[in-house]
Amino acid sequence: MTLERPSKKEKRIDEKIDEYRIKIKDSEDLKLRGEVFDTATLKALYTFANKGIIKAMGGVVSTGKEGNVFHAIGAEDREIAIKIYRIATSDFRKMEDYMLGDPRFANIKHTQKGIIFAWTQKEFRNLQRAAEAGVRVPAPIEADRNILIMEFIGKDGIPAPRLRDVQLAEPEHIYRTIVSYMVALYQEAKLVHSDLSEFNILLYEDEPVIIDMGQSVLLDHPMSREFLQRDVKNIVRYFKKLGVKCDEDSLLTEITTKK
Ligand SMILES: Nc1ncnc2c1ncn2[C@@H]1O[C@H](COP(=O)(O)OP(=O)(O)OP(=O)(O)O)[C@@H](O)[C@H]1O
Ligand SMILES: [Mg+2]
Repeated sequence: MTLERPSKKEKRIDEKIDEYRIKIKDSEDLKLRGEVFDTATLKALYTFANKGIIKAMGGVVSTGKEGNVFHAIGAEDREIAIKIYRIATSDFRKMEDYMLGDPRFANIKHTQKGIIFAWTQKEFRNLQRAAEAGVRVPAPIEADRNILIMEFIGKDGIPAPRLRDVQLAEPEHIYRTIVSYMVALYQEAKLVHSDLSEFNILLYEDEPVIIDMGQSVLLDHPMSREFLQRDVKNIVRYFKKLGVKCDEDSLLTEITTKK
């Protein structure tokens, strides 16, 4: 049997992928990048590059449990964030639990890859819903496979700090803004963030921006109430320490009482 020779087009894609690989190898965090950028992911990135959605890859912004976040330059030279979920090592069984009964993901493939691809779509659509409800989140741009492209919250490649990393000058104002976002998320978007804390809120131009919505669930998820209680607990704990008058019960009531 003779192997079919690659077509010109295939060859060009391969060369481009090699180019990407070289660029990636040149930079720091070689090992981590090697882990995330399998050939299929590189191809998907290359397709985004071809469409002008990614103009240049930048450095790594964060290396998390489930994936990495990169800085890049996108269309119209805007700064973008690229979140790439790791296929091999993500806890996809836990991810599956957060999609229980969600009609948006009723027909996904229940393989490791299928779940992670659905998770990426889920984060994209949750960000969309949140933005539509008036919650300040990174504007979602594109999602394909395990890659999510969104607005970069920060400047010149430096991400805005997390609430966890700053000393708030006006904690009261930030608290009220976050509460209004929790209300909008619940009442308008019908979502519970489900991992809300000082780790997943950035402070950008003195205002809070909510990030990391892969695990956010619709209100009819069997655990949505518990997740909301946990979010409320985290927020009250953080702001109480800063001297803001708040308590879990009143916050929970404020979020869930119809306006
Ligand atoms: N749109 C964005 N703009 C700028 N920085 C971002 C953006 N999204 C994520 N980051 C940075 O990457 C970090 C991790 O992102 P995120 O919380 O979405 O991922 P994660 O999977 O929870 O990772 P971790 O396990 O580290 O929490 C954030 O704390 C933030 O510093
Ligand atoms: Mg996070």
